[in-house]
Amino acid sequence: MKGLLKMSKSDKLILAIETSCDETAAAVIQYTPNTQWPKIKTLSSVVRSQIKLHAKMGGVVPEAAARAHVKNIQPVVKQALTASHLSLTAIDYIAVTQGPGLLPSLIVGVEFAKALSMTTKKPILPVNHMLGHLYSPLKDRVKNIFPQIALIVSGGHTILVLLENEKKYKVLGQTIYDAAGEAFDKVAKMLHLPYPGGPEVSKLATEGNKDAINFPRPMLNQKNYNFSFSGLKTAVLYYLQSLPATHYPLLTTANVCASFQNAVVDVLIQKTMRAAKEFKAKSVSLSGGVSANSELRNQLRNSCEQNHLELFVPAFNLCTDNAEMIGIAAAFMLHNGKKPVHYSKLEANSNLQL
Ligand code: KG4
Ligand code: ZN
Repeated sequence: MKGLLKMSKSDKLILAIETSCDETAAAVIQYTPNTQWPKIKTLSSVVRSQIKLHAKMGGVVPEAAARAHVKNIQPVVKQALTASHLSLTAIDYIAVTQGPGLLPSLIVGVEFAKALSMTTKKPILPVNHMLGHLYSPLKDRVKNIFPQIALIVSGGHTILVLLENEKKYKVLGQTIYDAAGEAFDKVAKMLHLPYPGGPEVSKLATEGNKDAINFPRPMLNQKNYNFSFSGLKTAVLYYLQSLPATHYPLLTTANVCASFQNAVVDVLIQKTMRAAKEFKAKSVSLSGGVSANSELRNQLRNSCEQNHLELFVPAFNLCTDNAEMIGIAAAFMLHNGKKPVHYSKLEANSNLQL
């Protein structure tokens, strides 16, 4: 028992920190080891977004993001501890996003975590941000879900993963050029929509006709599981350039959003379903910021139902960047036998691979 918290002797408390892009986030996670499936409870989760700051510039400015992280990290961590009714001394592990992401942003979280580790002697667990997304739909115990095909769609990455079990995974394919989230953001910019573009495009898409414009489905017919949305982005640009004016009527904007979104969703779902079939998957999971997209969630749900596959989608607050998923991934890492590292050995890595 630590303070007011109900816990057994073997339970571990993880303070998780995430600063890979434009959200400063911290969470406290309780993890019960020695169970067949890791038992994970979220005690607190705080996310401070920098949307207002970057909206003025139309996108994330890395140096401005880093400055905002520097300002926010200490109060956000303090808030997460306060909300969990715990002090830093009660924490067993410090988990921090090591990469991938924007280097100036990552450095703030990593160096803050290292300083905490140095002064408190708490062990430190470096977490791959994409592993956070990957495990975010698997927080609660579930049976017979493997093999699972996991589709991770974030701002910078689109990755298809084969999870053989909760310990063993293999990347089947990933982004060659633009990732899905990046394409959403760039198309939003072309349409003069505010930052962040993904949610704006998806909102306007509900008012448009998804069959209005026949945009290409890049790499759909290639046998591999890689993705590239740069050709689609260029097709949208050429379409807009073919129009007489540079500011478009609402219906045109809505039709572009709906048709573009449909092309992205089509590629993502068809490749995911192909992988599910090839690897005889029992379930599919969806994660990353673009998993907040309702059309993607709905169409994937339909496809999974048709193919008798169970679908795992995280709650909306776990879709876009947060520290709770970093704590969840850290709990899975401990469950899978990963050892912490000494703080002096840890460095942020903007190109960290899954
Ligand atoms: O996972 P995430 O929060 O950050 C990264 O790890 O990159 O993903 C952010 C991405 C952005 O590109 C954003 O536009 C996109 O997720 N996004 C969406 C939606 N909500 C967020 N894209 C499409 N529809 C949405 N509803
Ligand atoms: Zn992310």
